[in-house]
Amino acid sequence: MDALTVIKTRRSVRAFAGRQVPREVLEDIVDCGRLAATARNEQPWEFIVVTDASMREKIADLAEYGKFIAQASACIVVVCKDGRYFLEDGSAASQNILLGAWAHGVGSCWVAGDKKPYAVDIAKVLGVPDGYRVISLIALGYPQAPPSPKPKRALNEVLHWEKWA
Ligand SMILES: Cc1cc2nc3c(=O)[nH]c(=O)nc-3n(C[C@H](O)[C@H](O)[C@H](O)COP(=O)(O)O)c2cc1C
Repeated sequence: MDALTVIKTRRSVRAFAGRQVPREVLEDIVDCGRLAATARNEQPWEFIVVTDASMREKIADLAEYGKFIAQASACIVVVCKDGRYFLEDGSAASQNILLGAWAHGVGSCWVAGDKKPYAVDIAKVLGVPDGYRVISLIALGYPQAPPSPKPKRALNEVLHWEKWA
């Protein structure tokens, strides 16, 4: 898939087939996160790849709207060192992970981390040191079915040339 197709066809996947995502594919997906844009090139991120089923269950128990993490092949937890742009940087890395995954045919869903009270509990379970924030919990796996297209706002509704109009 070329980059534009990847961007335009990615949709959240919350139901996964049993087939495991190979380790080298997970590694390449994390590599996509590592290469994201980052303010002042600080690269404040760390990526925890959780494949272990019991650990994924613990995360799923804590994540209010992320119960499907228990059935995923893996969950990549994006963690950033607290700082001025930690949320922007962690979000850029998270989006790169979603796109990198889809380029490999791997479905994913971003589950909220930062801002949710459970983020600190997940950080504890994963042994994340103080001073780091959990940005996102990304469930990954081969889709059980093709992702269903969610309605999106039309281009002509959101695009403004030169000024707001
Ligand atoms: C910051 C953020 C938090 C999200 N949290 C959740 C979540 O907790 N659970 C979930 O199922 N989806 C979550 N999503 C996925 C969105 O629901 C999804 O991206 C949105 O409905 C658009 O659908 P699409 O990804 O298929 O385009 C989150 C997405 C973002 C960017």
